[in-house]
Amino acid sequence: MINIVPLTQVSTEDATAWHAVVSASLAADLPEEPRPTVEQIRAQLSVVGRDNRRLLWLAADADGAVVGVAGLRLFTSPGQQHLAELELHVTPERRRSGVGSHLLATAVGAARDDERRSLVAAAPGEGPTGAFCAARGFRRVLALDHLLLDVADADVAEAEAEHPGYELVGWTGTVPDELAEAFASAKNAMNDMPMGDMDFGSRTWTADRVRAMAEVLADRGDLLLTTAALEKGGKGEMAGYTEIVIRSGETRRALQYDTAVAPAHRGHGLGLWVKAEMVRRLRAEHPGIEEVETDNAQDNTHMIAVNHRLGFRFHRSTHEYQLDLLTD
Ligand SMILES: CC(C)(COP(=O)(O)OP(=O)(O)OC[C@H]1O[C@@H](n2cnc3c(N)ncnc32)[C@H](O)[C@@H]1OP(=O)(O)O)[C@@H](O)C(=O)NCCC(=O)NCCS
Repeated sequence: MINIVPLTQVSTEDATAWHAVVSASLAADLPEEPRPTVEQIRAQLSVVGRDNRRLLWLAADADGAVVGVAGLRLFTSPGQQHLAELELHVTPERRRSGVGSHLLATAVGAARDDERRSLVAAAPGEGPTGAFCAARGFRRVLALDHLLLDVADADVAEAEAEHPGYELVGWTGTVPDELAEAFASAKNAMNDMPMGDMDFGSRTWTADRVRAMAEVLADRGDLLLTTAALEKGGKGEMAGYTEIVIRSGETRRALQYDTAVAPAHRGHGLGLWVKAEMVRRLRAEHPGIEEVETDNAQDNTHMIAVNHRLGFRFHRSTHEYQLDLLTD
């Protein structure tokens, strides 16, 4: 017998149980990958993004042992109010006994009650998820390559390149006020990123929204680094930028967040320039960080080419699956 328990407040005990399930699940499916710490899980569960509401459930067996977890993000900002995102893990020794299906049915019910059109979930390219998702009516809508960069081996020569008409700026945490509007405009350039058949919608960034995103990361104890190329003179536009996050307590691996170059400034090597400068910063400011992980849609050929020039190499693949809630 499985009980699905909604979590409204996340206690230390809940976070510990959640961590145990996620760690065991990742160890089974992605044994080479670093696993989150309890503190990182606690921070993720207790600090909610400003652009979504979140529902959490634990699956407990008859003895009260937690054997599965599910989290549902219900996006609240215009352009994404049709979308829900699922995280689902079942502890390996309790798989194939219907726990995943129970949790999924609960999450789908909540997404439908909230009038969502599409439910998406990311999962490793290998392992049981493909079969589970096929059995439960999902389709595969996007294939992503995860790449890893060895920071010591990266080719950062491009950071020295001349880009007449542009200058590099960088900051840690929240964007400085004088750059906030230009940064929000540059972030809107991410909206033409290839998303396959995923019903992703669009995100519209404003100065307040970029500040809010930085606040959420800071509340979780994560460090956000940004490097940007500014147009000198002219309209003073932010032509491109790249973001790296170092999770709280992380000692080795940093995560690539956005990189974008605004359409009017593409074709001048600015993507490689800002990324090379970021690696230089990482070496100088965070010498313990040995590698950077990024993920790119497999058909995002420009971004993949930039990453390869810097020294990123293929690591593993993931897939995004989507359940169309109006038709199923
Ligand atoms: C994917 C996952 C959640 C499935 O959980 P589960 O409790 O084993 O799923 P269920 O027992 O409800 O399986 C339902 C159906 O999915 C299919 N299925 C699940 N795992 C399968 C596997 N390893 N091989 C073949 N089919 C599988 C079967 O049709 C199964 O029905 P059946 O057992 O009656 O044949 C679990 O494997 C997991 O935690 N994976 C890692 C995290 C992840 O990828 N999450 C997915 C996000 S959607």
